[in-house]
Amino acid sequence: MKRKNHSSLILLMMAAVFLLMVVLYSTIFSPQTTTAALKSDAGQMGKPLYKLDIAWPKYTEYFTGQVFGVAVDHIEGLVYVAQRGENVPKVLVFSTDGDFLQAWNTSTLEEPHGIFLANATANPTVWITDVGKGAYGHTIKQYSPSGKLLQVLGTPGKPGSNLNPLQFDQPAEIFVHSSGEIYIVDGDGGMNNRLIKLSKDLQVLWMHGEKGQGLAQFNIPHSVAVDYYQRVWVADRGNKRIQVFNSVTGDWLGSWGSCFDDDAPYSVRLTADQKYFVVAQLNTNQVSLLEAPPVGGIGQCRVTSVIQLAEDIKPHLVDVDLKTGALYVAEIGGQQAQKFIPLTRGSSFL
Ligand SMILES: *[C@@H]1O[C@H](CO)[C@@H](O)[C@H](O)[C@H]1NC(C)=O
Ligand SMILES: *[C@@H]1O[C@H](CO)[C@@H](O)[C@H](O)[C@H]1NC(C)=O
Repeated sequence: MKRKNHSSLILLMMAAVFLLMVVLYSTIFSPQTTTAALKSDAGQMGKPLYKLDIAWPKYTEYFTGQVFGVAVDHIEGLVYVAQRGENVPKVLVFSTDGDFLQAWNTSTLEEPHGIFLANATANPTVWITDVGKGAYGHTIKQYSPSGKLLQVLGTPGKPGSNLNPLQFDQPAEIFVHSSGEIYIVDGDGGMNNRLIKLSKDLQVLWMHGEKGQGLAQFNIPHSVAVDYYQRVWVADRGNKRIQVFNSVTGDWLGSWGSCFDDDAPYSVRLTADQKYFVVAQLNTNQVSLLEAPPVGGIGQCRVTSVIQLAEDIKPHLVDVDLKTGALYVAEIGGQQAQKFIPLTRGSSFL
């Protein structure tokens, strides 16, 4: 009798050990390492929202440099990809279907960083921040869709001083609101640490310009977006947080840090339905979808879903197709842009 109890106990223990091994094995070796497996930040499965479109673009050999930024014209169905490198075209234009259309033939760009498609509905133009240190650098440039230089903001070749808000030092990104008002984050590691709002005729409306870790101070303000509720969201990269401001007054509204313990936010863009922020995290090779809070207080940040990219892909900046909901990710390590399409209508479409 006693002996029988003993052996069933051993059996039970063996079963438990076996179960534990199965669980450990599947945790360690689950097939999630390839380009677009989905996982949450806590190691659980997040809510899958997007899948990689492996058919975009149709030919990848047009990528010849390091891809830093991407901008979508959702009306014309065009994707502008900004890349860096010696003797490579600095902007490539693809269709949203993946056809290669054009490479810009311009020598006016040194090191493109942020790229933004403005005024898609009426008269689209492409704004590009140039962090180059040569004769054309430290500027923000406006181009026609075919790459004709229209306008230059900043003082070409001269990095910022503390005096002039429009003398940039490695300006990181620009966001042009449909009203024509302009938001600039300056910059990408230079002397300036500024968030600047300009009127349509380029007058400074308000600015935050102090380096530091306190409220409304910055350390590498890297990306900027404005939501439908008059809130400006800034990826404050060096401080591993997103800071939020009132777009009219410039007042500080809050800050999110708890989502960025592992890696800083590099990008901040809203999905077409304004339900999520798309935040690239370069060092962990992740594109995180964060819940965008409705009008009012910003509360705590919450990660709904994470697109885990392969090692060394290094996602940098992103853009969203406001018509189809597709995400485009500029990947410095991968030396390419990739497209991710929403899995369900409703979650990310208009
Ligand atoms: C690019 O521009 C240069 C200078 O304007 C011109 O000489 C050259 O022919 C152009 N190349 C192409 C492929 O259009
Ligand atoms: C968009 O383009 C139209 C036509 O050129 C122009 O009248 C309008 O002011 C532009 N809007 C913005 C926000 O730049």
